[in-house]
Amino acid sequence: MVADAPMTPVDIEPLPRLARLAWDRAPALCASRDGCADYHRSWSMLRLVRAGGKPPAGWRFFHAEIARAAARGARRVLISGGADAGLLAIVASGFRNAGVVPRITFVDRCATPVMQNRLLGAELGLDLRAETADLREFRADGMDLVIAHSFLVFFETAERARVVANWAESLAPGGALLMSSALADEGPGALWRPASADDIPARKARLQAQARGAGLTPAEAAELADVAGRVWATRPSDRTGGLTEAELRGHFRAAGLAVERIACKPRADAPALGAARQRRRAEIVARAPG
Ligand SMILES: C[S@@+](CC[C@H](N)C(=O)[O-])C[C@H]1O[C@@H](n2cnc3c(N)ncnc32)[C@H](O)[C@@H]1O
Repeated sequence: MVADAPMTPVDIEPLPRLARLAWDRAPALCASRDGCADYHRSWSMLRLVRAGGKPPAGWRFFHAEIARAAARGARRVLISGGADAGLLAIVASGFRNAGVVPRITFVDRCATPVMQNRLLGAELGLDLRAETADLREFRADGMDLVIAHSFLVFFETAERARVVANWAESLAPGGALLMSSALADEGPGALWRPASADDIPARKARLQAQARGAGLTPAEAAELADVAGRVWATRPSDRTGGLTEAELRGHFRAAGLAVERIACKPRADAPALGAARQRRRAEIVARAPG
């Protein structure tokens, strides 16, 4: 049965509770070798406090593609990495709108988002397997959809190729990889970003005020600002280099995936086109041979 009014991810994600859980439990759950405790401790809380609980970017794109795939019989979905349960909320609400019950596998190397996903899956009565694994090695089988959000930028080029090859191996014939990711312009030179992005003291002060406004205690608001300040100071794409469209197309070609769509949106606050090397958020569909 198709739902009456389309459901949004916000309708089914109890973000205040999930954010509180990650805030309290990430220091114990995140493995110190991965150095992700600050990131996973603060991710959901930052979504809640700064963006009023907005879902991850591109959720309408994922919903549209899930509807298209579900109408063709897609059921089995791999969510390839997630900083919290935001992607699961997108996938679950998208399939509910399509009136289809999916079988979802969620994989992340870290136990904190896996814990959040298990909790949301149980609350929603989903058919969900959530597990910790390294996606440079992990392969599933017979997936109709693989969903990835800002994931490849975490890796060096050779590792990106391995991850894309694993996605391709995980897909059933005709299955689709759906990605929302920043893509960097080709060319030499540093990537443009707003000057305010590097003003971490100002960002921390703003966040602390937002956190107080959202009801955190003064001590928690100050701690959140400190944790977020450390996360902001270490951007993964500074370490790995931006992902360009040409590189991505090369990984798809090598893995035998056909590009169906790469649609880029410039940042609203970016300078005029051509003025600087930019990152743009892209919505991407690549398909396994049928
Ligand atoms: C998917 S990405 C970006 C998050 C995304 N924007 C979101 O909304 O969830 C971040 C996740 O990748 C995970 N990760 C990083 N390296 C990994 C690896 N080798 N295998 C599995 N997960 C990994 C991190 O633990 C983190 O949770």
